[in-house]
Amino acid sequence: MDIRTFDSAEAVAAAVARRVAEALVTTPTLVLGLPSGRTPVAAYAELRRLHAAGGADFARATAFALDEFVGISSVHPGSFRTFMERHLFQGVNLPASRVHFLDGAAGDLETECERYETTIDAAGGIDLLLLGIGANGHIGFNEPGDALVARTHRVTLAATTRRDNAALFGGDPRAMPREALSMGMGSILKATSIVLVATGARKARGVERAVHGPLTTRLPASLLQLHRRVELYLDRAAAGRLHTWRVEGPGGFDDTTCA
Ligand code: GLP
Repeated sequence: MDIRTFDSAEAVAAAVARRVAEALVTTPTLVLGLPSGRTPVAAYAELRRLHAAGGADFARATAFALDEFVGISSVHPGSFRTFMERHLFQGVNLPASRVHFLDGAAGDLETECERYETTIDAAGGIDLLLLGIGANGHIGFNEPGDALVARTHRVTLAATTRRDNAALFGGDPRAMPREALSMGMGSILKATSIVLVATGARKARGVERAVHGPLTTRLPASLLQLHRRVELYLDRAAAGRLHTWRVEGPGGFDDTTCA
């Protein structure tokens, strides 16, 4: 894993946005996989800013959202579709026909998951997949458990995840959907390049286990160790439990070793 640590969450966001903008220059037809959550919000804002300044052209790109809640319409204010539209898609020039979402209100959710897998394959697979990490080590909505699922599938959300996402539903975990649709671990690991973004001390333990821990379904992010091209973009707090890390970017620091 290629670990890039920055002095602040703002510096992480700027670097992640630059990473995407550069990938768009190298591959204008880039197929992106994109997460929701608080972590990527600043990077999405920076991408909108770069786009407005002529520095990020999405005209020929394609995007797939990583996951979606079950049982709410795509226009529900708490849906990940609403979230992605607001934070990214409304502010960049991705053609609507090439922006893909899971439909958590579909009548037949199994067919909906298969449709998504087929659509990703038809787009040629995901070139660059951005990921956040749940405080419990989940990626997408692949929750810790005895087993993980390879393909896009329906999941029951962990209680901690429902608490963590409750802000989207007026702060009330009971108002949160109990289930979601998510790309599976296989869908994720098939991406050509993966960029995992984590900021804040709450993520430090999960990041530590993802990097240094054993591969385990109890920490889905640990399976990223199986992938050849994973980059971690971390701030100091999220990197705080790693064995060694180095802060880069403006005002960079020397190598730092921690416990
Ligand atoms: C959500 C999403 C994940 C996201 C994670 C972390 O549940 N399904 O894709 O990475 O939680 O969210 P946050 O960035 O708000 O901590």
